[in-house]
Amino acid sequence: MSSPAVPPLPLRDTPDRYGRVTRFLHWGMAALLLWQFIGMVLREILGRTPLVSFFTGSHQMVGTVLFLLTVMRLIWAFANRGNRPAHGEGVLGLGARMGHLALYVVMFTVPAAAILRSYGSERAFSPFGFEIFAARETPITWMVAVGDALHGELGWLMLALIAGHIVMVGLHKAMWRDGTLERMAGRRRG
Ligand code: HEM
Repeated sequence: MSSPAVPPLPLRDTPDRYGRVTRFLHWGMAALLLWQFIGMVLREILGRTPLVSFFTGSHQMVGTVLFLLTVMRLIWAFANRGNRPAHGEGVLGLGARMGHLALYVVMFTVPAAAILRSYGSERAFSPFGFEIFAARETPITWMVAVGDALHGELGWLMLALIAGHIVMVGLHKAMWRDGTLERMAGRRRG
């Protein structure tokens, strides 16, 4: 007996599952963030080696793309508000809401702080091989200071939040079996 046909995924989100645009943004950003953190974790462990440079050589370019994707993701989340899977009830639902909010804040702030620092610094900013910000003779010290203070610290906080996010999805899958992962990865409900 053949199983019933699975309807194609819609572009937009629905209360049951996330649509194609949200999934593209979610998994595309996950892959690019993995690349960023592999590079930075290896740099912490090994220092500046050719292997580390293989990953970190594209750090500014990938980070700038991540910033643009985050802006698109914020706009898309706003456009789909009230029409996406709910976070759930009670303390767990509140925790999920707070966790996602914190992720959005760091996804925006981490690259934004680095770009602000580049804008204010003496060096030209050319992540894609052409100049976006020209070199300046005198740095704008407060911009550099904000970037120095926030970029690295919040970058590591983002890694911790992503680890917590993955652990919670694993718990949903193993203990509560409520289809949380399937809403972002699967084609069927639950
Ligand atoms: C979501 C995107 C990004 C993530 C997750 C990220 C993450 C990180 C992390 C974890 C570090 C190591 C900090 C440390 O050594 O303690 C770092 C360093 C660095 N990042 Fe990024 N970054 C991103 C985007 C960018 C962008 C867009 C730029 C350039 C405009 C940039 C420029 C740098 C530079 C120059 C360093 C070395 C100096 C420093 O530690 O601040 N990053 N980044």
